[in-house]
Amino acid sequence: MTYTSSTVRVPDIAAVPRHIAIIMDGNGRWATQRRLPRVAGHTRGVDAVRTAVEECARAGVEYLTLFAFSSENWRRPVEEVSFLMRLFVTALEREVGKLHANGIRLRVVGDLSLFDTRIQDLIRRAETKTARNTRLTLTIAANYGGRWDIMQAARKLAEQSVSEGRVVPFDESEFAQHLALAYAPEPDLFIRTGGETRISNFLLWQLAYTELYFTDAYWPDFDAKTLSDAIASYARRERRFGRTSAQLEPQSQDASSQNADSLPC
Ligand code: FPP
Repeated sequence: MTYTSSTVRVPDIAAVPRHIAIIMDGNGRWATQRRLPRVAGHTRGVDAVRTAVEECARAGVEYLTLFAFSSENWRRPVEEVSFLMRLFVTALEREVGKLHANGIRLRVVGDLSLFDTRIQDLIRRAETKTARNTRLTLTIAANYGGRWDIMQAARKLAEQSVSEGRVVPFDESEFAQHLALAYAPEPDLFIRTGGETRISNFLLWQLAYTELYFTDAYWPDFDAKTLSDAIASYARRERRFGRTSAQLEPQSQDASSQNADSLPC
């Protein structure tokens, strides 16, 4: 699909979100509450990832994006970082076959250059193997940061300008083509588990008009009900994209076709 920026054109909306983005928070607290080491929460977190993928595919969600490791997570204790890397490798080795068998495409976004070459290789092979699947695109954001993403897109445009010997003109939509998630529509629904109410440098550009949903549930407890509660909350929202409620009434002629370009603000 061609990425369309929600601030340039009002996207088509359906009751089920096309794209859900999740910050999977609360693994450590889940474990601590049970007097387990923090990393036990991450292990259980992988089970919750499986649940989220299955339930999103079942609900008809087309894109699911999970924040697995942020550019700031390197600040954690070295043992926890190493554990998360090993868990990522194990999950890739064990789960990719199942994803493929279920028609799920896997993509990984982020600055992968800092990862071990073995992980980079596993990622490349998993992406190639699942590249033709269309049921659901599962994106894992790893060593990802929203600011990193905007910077790398700007850098690509700057490099293009240098190589062409002129300032390459670009607008918002063209800029967005260089973002890591250019292949996906902007998230309709953002979910953060674990009780915190912040975005933590996740998809800064793409969340401009995304509906936000926060739940106290810790990530290892994420289940079909958590997802259906979030989707039900989403279905009740009025997504105006800068328009008025009256414009959304069925009788309003310009309700869905109005292009934000032509609005005064
Ligand atoms: C946040 O919980 C979670 C993470 C930083 C890691 C998320 C990783 C997984 C769910 C498992 C691996 C995922 C894949 C895709 C293989 P936290 O540790 O910040 O919890 P806390 O806030 O309770 O301390």
